[in-house]
Amino acid sequence: MLIEFTLNRQTVSVDSPPDITLLTLLRDYLNLTGTKEGCEVGECGACSVILDGRLVNSCMVLALQVAGREVITIEGVCGPDDEPNDMQENFIEYGAVQCGFCIPGMVLAGEALLMMVPQPTREEIRLGVAGNLCRCTGYQHIVDAIRATALGRRSLGESKVQRGR
Ligand code: FES
Ligand code: FES
Repeated sequence: MLIEFTLNRQTVSVDSPPDITLLTLLRDYLNLTGTKEGCEVGECGACSVILDGRLVNSCMVLALQVAGREVITIEGVCGPDDEPNDMQENFIEYGAVQCGFCIPGMVLAGEALLMMVPQPTREEIRLGVAGNLCRCTGYQHIVDAIRATALGRRSLGESKVQRGR
């Protein structure tokens, strides 16, 4: 069946079997391998994507369920000139990346959280990434990176407001 949806701000149409997951659609049909395949039972968060503004495990979503909807994968997260964005820079800056397997999902968990809660507390950040497992970092640096991104975006917003006055 033909599935049409918005993927990383572009409309795509994909011929897909009716019984595959969004994770399989992204990796095997669209070659977007930044979305990682981990447990495949909704427990690790490695396959996280943002669907209509909310973080979901793409291994738990059928491909046909995204018809007409908007999906953002890690390939759609970047700065204005396709360079890493502030969240990704902060993950590097704060030493939040080790093996890297969980990182696409973690970055998307951070982005999804900041869409809903622009200035989260550390506790809210911990809850925001609670569905994303990392076996390397101990989470502290990941929380630091997301918090720094939130604060940086607030300063940017404030400076834009001041310039507009
Ligand atoms: S691969 Fe989807 S939650 Fe683990
Ligand atoms: S950096 Fe290795 S699993 Fe998170």
